[in-house]
Amino acid sequence: MEKLIILLLGVVNLSLFVQPGSAQLRQNFYADICPNVESIVRNAVTQKFQQTTITIPATLRLFFHDCFVNGCDASVMVASTANNTAEKDNPDNLSLAGDGFDTVIKAKAAVDAVPQCTNKVSCADILTMAARDVVSLSGGPSYAVELGRLDGLSSTAASVNGKLPQPTFDLNQLTSIFATNGISQTDMIALSAAHTVGFSHCNRFSNRIYDFGGQAGAIDPTLNRTYAAQLQSECPRNVDPSVAIELDPITPGTFDNQYFRNLQLRMGLFTSDQTLAEDGISRPTVDTWAADSAAFSRAFVTAMTNLGRVGVKTSSPLGNIRRDCSVLN
Ligand code: HEM
Ligand SMILES: *[C@@H]1O[C@H](CO)[C@@H](O)[C@H](O)[C@H]1NC(C)=O
Ligand SMILES: *[C@@H]1O[C@H](CO)[C@@H](O)[C@H](O)[C@H]1NC(C)=O
Ligand SMILES: *[C@@H]1O[C@H](CO)[C@@H](O)[C@H](O)[C@H]1NC(C)=O
Repeated sequence: MEKLIILLLGVVNLSLFVQPGSAQLRQNFYADICPNVESIVRNAVTQKFQQTTITIPATLRLFFHDCFVNGCDASVMVASTANNTAEKDNPDNLSLAGDGFDTVIKAKAAVDAVPQCTNKVSCADILTMAARDVVSLSGGPSYAVELGRLDGLSSTAASVNGKLPQPTFDLNQLTSIFATNGISQTDMIALSAAHTVGFSHCNRFSNRIYDFGGQAGAIDPTLNRTYAAQLQSECPRNVDPSVAIELDPITPGTFDNQYFRNLQLRMGLFTSDQTLAEDGISRPTVDTWAADSAAFSRAFVTAMTNLGRVGVKTSSPLGNIRRDCSVLN
């Protein structure tokens, strides 16, 4: 009888930990399944980076968009078919650069080339590792990633609507859309510093440099006048819509805390950037990280880890491991 009770308790206990759908992400998830996965991905990302530096911002932004639409499940990778317009073809995909997709596809091919690893590592985890790798390749912190995500089973253009923050957002709007994803305001401020690398098309901020607030010739008063003049010369009225300029004009290729120093000089490119320094609630955090690069790096790692947990699927039938990242199995 005693034995039976212990046995039953054991079963009850165990079931607490292996409930379907409640499995946890963890570091070294692939230790037995595909032991070298992290170095295989890192090598593929490094090779891609040597071909084009756009790899850095393109991959980082792809990870963010994936996590905010339908959870971190590589649904952003799926290509549209005759019957389905996928996530990436929503107009609000905000012109994701093709090199982010290509980075994941190349890394997946490198992983699958190892027989033990073939179709054992999810596209969602490969994107998570690649996002970590581009941050460290551009001078940012290197950190251990949690793994064990499955790939999502659907991807629709409609699912993107309202999920992504807009460059016109103020602090309250940013805080609220990140809170919807379980991400704190502090993490949101840290993640915004991803704009220390990469580019924006002129139309994403032209409202700040031309006829601001509908007033002919007006410039956003929270924009540095010298910087505004520079932006006007780089993005004249009726500029070719394919023109894109650096988000961080001071250290564009380096992942660093210059983003926060720029905000102090009113050189945040989007309203959503500059509001972090203009609003008294977030300003102290901006000032702290502008002055303390190590504190920023720690905060960014925490925030990326939390971003990587958004809406993850860790057990079937919620997801699977896609054979081709751009096609649902
Ligand atoms: C806080 C709210 C955010 C807003 C409103 C926002 C908005 C934007 C916009 C409008 C662009 C320019 C897109 C284009 O014209 O091509 C951009 C670029 C970028 N964003 Fe964000 N973003 C936000 C947060 C983030 C986060 C959390 C990350 C990553 C952790 C991120 C990473 C990037 C990167 C790396 C680029 C440059 C992309 C490239 O050069 O291809 N952003 N963002
Ligand atoms: C599209 O849907 C139809 C009917 O639902 C199906 O027969 C066809 O195979 C689908 N085509 C693709 C490309 O998925
Ligand atoms: C983003 O969506 C537009 C359609 O609105 C499409 O033309 C473009 O190719 C898409 N970008 C990517 C990288 O798929
Ligand atoms: C505008 O930027 C310049 C550097 O380009 C800086 O010296 C100046 O202090 C900034 N102005 C404001 C209001 O921050």
